[in-house]
Amino acid sequence: MPWLSIRRRLLFNMCQRIIRNPFLCFNILFLTIIIVILTFRTSNIQQKCSLDQNIAQQQNITYKSSLNKPVIFIGGMPRSGTTLMRAILDSHPLVRCGEETRVIPRVLNMRAAWKKSTLEWNRLMAGGISESMIDSAIRAFVYEILLQHNQYADVLCDKDPFVLKYASYISSIFSNAKFLLLIRDARAVIHSVVTRKVTITGFNLSDYRQNFKVWNKGMETMIDQCTLVGKDKCLHVYYEQLVLQPKKTIENILKFLNLTWVDSVLHHEELVGKKISLSKTEHSSDQVIKPINLEALTKWIGHIPDDIKNEIDTLAPMLKRLGYDTQSDVPTYGVADQLVLSNMNNLKENAEFWDAKAKAYARHLPNDTSLFQNHTNN
Ligand SMILES: *[C@@H]1O[C@H](CO)[C@@H](O)[C@H](O)[C@H]1NC(C)=O
Ligand SMILES: *[C@@H]1O[C@H](CO)[C@@H](O)[C@H](O)[C@H]1NC(C)=O
Ligand SMILES: *[C@@H]1O[C@H](CO)[C@@H](O)[C@H](O)[C@H]1NC(C)=O
Ligand SMILES: *[C@@H]1O[C@H](CO)[C@@H](O)[C@H](O)[C@H]1NC(C)=O
Ligand SMILES: *[C@@H]1O[C@H](CO)[C@@H](O)[C@H](O)[C@H]1NC(C)=O
Repeated sequence: MPWLSIRRRLLFNMCQRIIRNPFLCFNILFLTIIIVILTFRTSNIQQKCSLDQNIAQQQNITYKSSLNKPVIFIGGMPRSGTTLMRAILDSHPLVRCGEETRVIPRVLNMRAAWKKSTLEWNRLMAGGISESMIDSAIRAFVYEILLQHNQYADVLCDKDPFVLKYASYISSIFSNAKFLLLIRDARAVIHSVVTRKVTITGFNLSDYRQNFKVWNKGMETMIDQCTLVGKDKCLHVYYEQLVLQPKKTIENILKFLNLTWVDSVLHHEELVGKKISLSKTEHSSDQVIKPINLEALTKWIGHIPDDIKNEIDTLAPMLKRLGYDTQSDVPTYGVADQLVLSNMNNLKENAEFWDAKAKAYARHLPNDTSLFQNHTNN
């Protein structure tokens, strides 16, 4: 083969040998197949890995954006105007709070119990359940409930009275959370609990003394939490001011929440059954169907037992600390706006209409009330 160069001839010889030697041929074929399989598998694994990473990153982005989404938490002691507050915010086009979720405060309560028990906490850590894992799971839970409960709302909102007990923790997992702490005269709160027979853990329908202590303890915790997260994140909202001077008070609240003023917030009653949905298992629904009014402001007057009146500053020192006049039997809370006075006239003149509406929203529980017996309202 003179037409081939030496190098080519060598190569040609090798090829001929390979072809003639079936063993060598088989070996090379086998090696090639293995190399092809390996190359394919590695690229597949790499692809799969990057896919998993993408999903994780996407989730990270979702959770991160959830952290940045504004979330409003409305709380306070029950019977302090939290439902009225959320109905007012519900009448803002960008916000939807909706009914109490009931599950959010319970999950927060559970996590607080794990953390409080050193034994349990250490067991969790030893078992590889880290604090950041728990935090992101709680955040995902709360976020999922809010998102699905408040469909299409730009600003998420949760109204569950006892969430305020966990304000500083919530603030640590939702960096854009803001809190409204509803504050109301304890005498009115307790009178309402007793006369409307509201079951709340700790309260006893026939023991005023205990109720003032429980109210005081709850308020102390919530005020402390509110202070911890700071003035720019937690606002005290006095129920009395809300119903006496709604315009000024709500203006202040919307400014705090960085929401623009809309007139609809002064007429939430017009949106009940439309944008605002009320639960028939909540105690306040038949009150919140009405325009902002003063019906519940002074109902308690004349109904607080004398011995309690004398001890009130020791039973519930928070009352005085929050600025309430504990010495007077008939405290004045301030002057009512013209709007509220005309609402009161409307309620009086159309009493039948409003009574019928209130009946339609009166609280009735499903027949099997056992679900509600043990864990009511907390
Ligand atoms: C998710 O975000 C955290 C905190 O910003 C970061 O440490 C982590 O690496 C991110 N994870 C992924 C998969 O991007
Ligand atoms: C509630 O208070 C009354 C009067 O003090 C007492 O007799 C009753 O046992 C209390 N009930 C509960 C459930 O604590
Ligand atoms: C308030 O809202 C506006 C848009 O409505 C936004 O541009 C601004 O950054 C917000 N300010 C704060 C402090 O969140
Ligand atoms: C509840 O029980 C009453 C009779 O005790 C019955 O008339 C009513 O239909 C029941 N309601 C439901 C929701 O089951
Ligand atoms: C409520 O508590 C009582 C005793 O504390 C218990 O016997 C009952 O099973 C509980 N009911 C529910 C629905 O959990």
